[in-house]
Amino acid sequence: MSKIQYDFGSGRSDPSTFPVAGLQAAATKVIAEQAQELTEYPGNLGHPGMRKAMALRESEREGVSVDPDHLMLTNGSMQGVTLSAEALQENHGDTILVEEYSYPGTLSAYRNLKLDMVGIPLDEGGMRPDKVEEQLERLSKENRLPKFIYTISTYQNPTGFVMPVARRRQIIALGQRYNVPIIEDNCYADVHYDGPLEPAFYALDDDPNIIYLCSLSKILAPGLRLGYIYAKPPMLDRLLARRSDAGSNTLAAAITAEFYKDGIAAHAKVANPVLQEKRDLTLQGLEEELGDICVWSVPVGGLFIWVRLPEDVDRQKLMAMSREQGVAYLPGQSFHFQRRDVPYLRLAFGHLTPDQISTGLPILARCIKTCRGSNEGRDFDSLF
Ligand SMILES: Cc1ncc(COP(=O)(O)O)c(C=O)c1O
Repeated sequence: MSKIQYDFGSGRSDPSTFPVAGLQAAATKVIAEQAQELTEYPGNLGHPGMRKAMALRESEREGVSVDPDHLMLTNGSMQGVTLSAEALQENHGDTILVEEYSYPGTLSAYRNLKLDMVGIPLDEGGMRPDKVEEQLERLSKENRLPKFIYTISTYQNPTGFVMPVARRRQIIALGQRYNVPIIEDNCYADVHYDGPLEPAFYALDDDPNIIYLCSLSKILAPGLRLGYIYAKPPMLDRLLARRSDAGSNTLAAAITAEFYKDGIAAHAKVANPVLQEKRDLTLQGLEEELGDICVWSVPVGGLFIWVRLPEDVDRQKLMAMSREQGVAYLPGQSFHFQRRDVPYLRLAFGHLTPDQISTGLPILARCIKTCRGSNEGRDFDSLF
């Protein structure tokens, strides 16, 4: 197999904006100043300075006050995904609601926990509340209400869509009507380019049944393995009780807290425009190369574009041929809650160079056209 030169597969930020000097300076300072704390176990909530910095991040974005003592630091948001599910699950086979297309890491964690996922169809506004209601009604009648609803409501992975505020309120109301907790995974939160900013679920309602997950992976780097859960008591206590890993890495947290001590805006102002340019370049390439046969999302933030392919593309052949020609992407199937082979693919543009985007996209487009059974024009106008 040939070497992958154009990796549209993995969702990472631009490595060139990783703030080496800023983190070096922060590390030198905190290792000297916090030596005592570094020799101790962090406890279940974790480094107080980092919780304070992340409470500031949240309250600045959401315009509501966030108590640092209700934040629990985790090993990436992925630990938040697993821990919250473990805390809410009672038995193997418990039902949960997820978006029909969702993050493969979460889907895999839920499969490992033997949760029974019910997929909710999406549209341009994310998870559809009418379908959530339909499922809650059905499951309630069957006496197996879901243990929780998991949603990536902002810059959804893989579609890139943002759920409008009215829809967020509807989903909160449904959660309350059926007494089902909501887990909002907001790991792309501050990777914003343009368009309206929608509030997090917790900013709309004080309900302790709302659990919020966030991360440093997409604004700084996934190698830090830093994320957090924000939840209010008594839910917070339930989550803390489920934890048994002695807390998360104090050194990474202390360095990051120092780096972000005045807020995250300064670094976001450097990192986001670089990503935005690459989003634009990818959209432009799609228009030029695939405008006649495909439809795609136009994300206002996050790292992904969701592309709908013509039905007559041989998807297995496409994957093999693209890889052979040095292009990687993730197929729609990876995101489907039941691994259904669907005519979509996801393009991640964050960590590629502009040159790789401009060269890689035409190669992918040629492969898509070669793997079709016809030369027909597009017979659909929307993503779903
Ligand atoms: C929706 C979603 N949740 C969680 C994660 C995991 O991220 P982290 O590195 O914070 O564990 C990702 C990573 O791509 C993601 O897309």
